[in-house]
Amino acid sequence: MISIFASHDDGAPALAAAYDRVAATWHATICKFGFVKAYGDLLELASRRFLTENMSDLNVLDAGSGTAGFSLAFAQQIGRASFDLLDVSNEMLRKGAHTLAVEGLPSDQICCDIADLPARPKRYDVILSAHLIEHVGDVGAVLEALRAALSPGGVLILVVSKPHWCTTLVRLRWGHRAYRPAEMETLLSASGFEDIETFSFSAGPPKRLSAGYVAQTC
Ligand SMILES: C[S@@+](CC[C@H](N)C(=O)[O-])C[C@H]1O[C@@H](n2cnc3c(N)ncnc32)[C@H](O)[C@@H]1O
Repeated sequence: MISIFASHDDGAPALAAAYDRVAATWHATICKFGFVKAYGDLLELASRRFLTENMSDLNVLDAGSGTAGFSLAFAQQIGRASFDLLDVSNEMLRKGAHTLAVEGLPSDQICCDIADLPARPKRYDVILSAHLIEHVGDVGAVLEALRAALSPGGVLILVVSKPHWCTTLVRLRWGHRAYRPAEMETLLSASGFEDIETFSFSAGPPKRLSAGYVAQTC
């Protein structure tokens, strides 16, 4: 296991500290509201893009991993993989590593801003990212960085908040944006992704608050 932790005084300190404070209860909360189940449903749909008969260990990046709910859903729905968790919050990463370790899944943790991803040389087969890009200023730059971090033919699986009055309430606390599916599709396309599919969740808060996207590099 590799842990690369940064101090909080080099960017997004207030947001990182706010997520540090909720890390202890985050995983139970997202399970209670049905998000881990919803991530699994999205992964079932997306899996035809990256599951092959000869599949060996996939390299998976969970960007803005929080407590690794998306990675856990991946392991449960698809199978074992080599997980890198990336987040600005040290506490979210620690909890995320624990969430996976309890299931016997090792992970590496990278504590940095997603804006620093282009400096990292590693390439991934699959990038997962749930409710991260709502926090970033230059969404196009981050989507381009995610595309560049994928191996050729690699798959991006995104979950992003969509406009809804509940999202407005969440925004009051966390300050994040919401994107209509058509906006996201345009942003993904402008960032060089292909074969973009949008996914509606079937029930509960994920259905009201979020949409899923699957897109590929050529
Ligand atoms: C809404 S939470 C989602 C966490 C997780 N993906 C999930 O679905 O439970 C957003 C996460 O993104 C992280 N984050 C926010 N801005 C970030 C940035 N610029 N770079 C890296 N991580 C960031 C936060 O620390 C937090 O853990």
